Amino acid sequence: MPEFPQATSRFIPDCPALAGGVAANATAAALATLAPAIAVSGLSKRVADASGELTILHPLDFTVQPAETLAIVGASGSGKSTLLGLLAGLDTPSSGKVALAGVDIFALDEDGRAALRMAQLGFVFQSFQLLAHLTALENVMLPLELRGDAQARAQAEAMLGRVGLGARLGHYPKYLSGGEQQRVALARAFVTAPPLLFADEPTGSLDAATGEAVIQLMFELNRERASTLVLVTHDPHIAARCGRIITIAAGRLV
Ligand SMILES: Nc1ncnc2c1ncn2[C@@H]1O[C@H](COP(=O)(O)OP(=O)(O)OP(=O)(O)O)[C@@H](O)[C@H]1O
Ligand SMILES: [Mg+2]
Repeated sequence: MPEFPQATSRFIPDCPALAGGVAANATAAALATLAPAIAVSGLSKRVADASGELTILHPLDFTVQPAETLAIVGASGSGKSTLLGLLAGLDTPSSGKVALAGVDIFALDEDGRAALRMAQLGFVFQSFQLLAHLTALENVMLPLELRGDAQARAQAEAMLGRVGLGARLGHYPKYLSGGEQQRVALARAFVTAPPLLFADEPTGSLDAATGEAVIQLMFELNRERASTLVLVTHDPHIAARCGRIITIAAGRLV
């Protein structure tokens, strides 16, 4: 087992805004009185293809409460990544609504959605999406710098340490293994302590021990920060550790 899950107590003092259960409990209490973390209604996605129109997602309805952990499972090609992209406002739907903490994200313009993502959301892409011309450290610092955080370097270093990459800070993505890139992507998503964390197959490129450590880290952060976690996974053991599982088959909830 890699050592990084045990690094929790070392990380928290570097990040006072996140320290201790008091803040997390206060956040949880505040959130409990508010709108659902995610409310999806009539959400669908159709695209044009050679044979006419392809329906990737049929109209979907569900809600996710603050601090909930939700697994989205289903066969390859069933629409999981498409759904996650819509929940994050990274793609636009053919119909329907997504409200994040009561905000109708498709009523916002692109800039409004980008601002909301920066404030609220961490996203771990299935394909990592690291910036090739930035080092591991710079990739993780970026979302902090965009917020004008004066502690960006120290916080990014601490988070990379926490995912076991303290010795790879200066590496560019092309010199990192697939699993290391995945952990940089996780560190980048976590480092701003977002109230909403979306992760698409976050352990897909990891060996069993590292994957387990990453999952432990995600659940720890969910508990510490009372954040809402939505996880796409093919691994039934990981799904079973979430508070709720939804299954998609050919673009429909089953
Ligand atoms: N822009 C697009 N144009 C055409 N087809 C698309 C587009 N985006 C997704 N698809 C198709 O929609 C289906 C769902 O894709 P999606 O990536 O959401 O699946 P997934 O459930 O995440 O699969 P996997 O488990 O393999 O990652 C796939 O058949 C895919 O080919
Ligand atoms: Mg996918």
